[in-house]
Amino acid sequence: MRVVSGVKPSGKMHAGNYLGAVKHFIQFQNKADDSFIFVANYHVLNTYPDPESLRKGTVDILLDYLALGLDPEKTTLFLQSSVPQITELTFILSNYTPMGLLERAHAYKDALAKDKNVNHGLFTYPVLMAADILAYRADVVPVGKDQKQHIEITRDIALRFNNRHGDILTIPDARIEESMAVIPGTDGRKMSKSYQNTIEIFASPKQMKKQIMNIVTDSTPMEEPLDPGCCNVFALYRYFATPEECAEMKEKYASPVFGYGHAKLALFEKMNSYFEPFREKREALARDEDLLRDILCNGAAKACEEAQKTLADVRRAAGIIEI
Ligand code: ADP
Ligand code: TRP
Repeated sequence: MRVVSGVKPSGKMHAGNYLGAVKHFIQFQNKADDSFIFVANYHVLNTYPDPESLRKGTVDILLDYLALGLDPEKTTLFLQSSVPQITELTFILSNYTPMGLLERAHAYKDALAKDKNVNHGLFTYPVLMAADILAYRADVVPVGKDQKQHIEITRDIALRFNNRHGDILTIPDARIEESMAVIPGTDGRKMSKSYQNTIEIFASPKQMKKQIMNIVTDSTPMEEPLDPGCCNVFALYRYFATPEECAEMKEKYASPVFGYGHAKLALFEKMNSYFEPFREKREALARDEDLLRDILCNGAAKACEEAQKTLADVRRAAGIIEI
C-alpha cells in the first residue's frame, strides 16, 4: 500500500492541523509500505502569496513535520515544485477533464460566490492535485473531509483516462477521510486559521497559555457543577489526556471549588508538556542548515523517478511519440 499526501504551506501549525491531519500522516508512515509527503507550494500560488512568506512558510512546514516525527527514512519528503513531471502530467490530464467537473468543485464555487478574484490556477487546482496523486500511483490519500471532493475528481479523471487507454493509472482510495475528527477551536467552531480560534502548537508557552485562557466558556458560576459535555476546554483536554485523567477531570467539573480557570490551566499543562519535546526538536532542526536541503534533494530524486515512470506510460498510452 502506498500513501501519498500534500500539505499547503499556509500559516502557523495549530492543534487542529496536528490532531486532524499530521498525526495521521505520521502513523501512516509506519503502516504503509511506502509513503510520499510533499509541500504543495504550487497549489498556494493561486492565492497571490507574498513570495517571502511563501518561502518562509515552505521551510516552516517542513520543520514542523520533521519535528513532529515525520521520518525521511520512511517517508519520501519533497517539494511539489521539485518534480517538473507534475506540471506536464497536469497538462495531459486536463484534456481528460470536462469543464463541468471543475465548475462543480466546492473550492471554485465558494471563491466565485465570495466574488473573489478567481484565476485559472484556482479553477484547475483539482487537475494539479490529480497529477500529484496519480504520478506516484497512490493507493491511499489521507486528507481531511474538506478534500474529499478533490479525491473524487482525481478518481474520475483517472477512470476517464483508463477507459480510453487501458489500465495505466492507479485509482486511489477515497474512503480514508472519514476517520479524521474535526477539532474544535477556542470558540467551539472548527479550529481554523481563518476563524482566528487556533492554539498554535509551536508557540512559546506564554503564547500558548494566552490562547488557552481565551477559550470561550459559559457563565456557570464556580459553585455550580460544570458540564464537561458541552465545554470547549474539555473537548480539547480529552485529546491530550489518558482515559483515567479524563474521568478524574469529569469528577472535578462537578466540584464547587473547581472553575473554568482551573480547567484551562490543566489543559495548558497537558498541551504544553505534550508539545514541549517537539518544540525543542524543531529548534534543533532549524539550526542545522544543510539538513533540510539534503532531505529535500533525496526526496525529490525519488519522487522524480516515480513520476517519470508514470508520465512515460501516460505519454505512450496517449499517443505522444518519443524521439
Ligand atoms: P486551516 O483551516 O487552519 O486553514 P488548513 O486548511 O490549512 O487549516 O488544513 C490543513 C490540514 O489540517 C487539512 O488536512 C485539514 O483537513 C486539517 N485540519 C485543519 N483544521 C482542522 C480541524 N479543526 N480539525 C481537523 N482537521 C483539521
Ligand atoms: N489540496 C490539499 C489541501 O488543500 C493539498 C494537496 C495538494 C494534496 N495536492 C495534494 C493533498 C495531493 C493530498 C494529495 O490541503
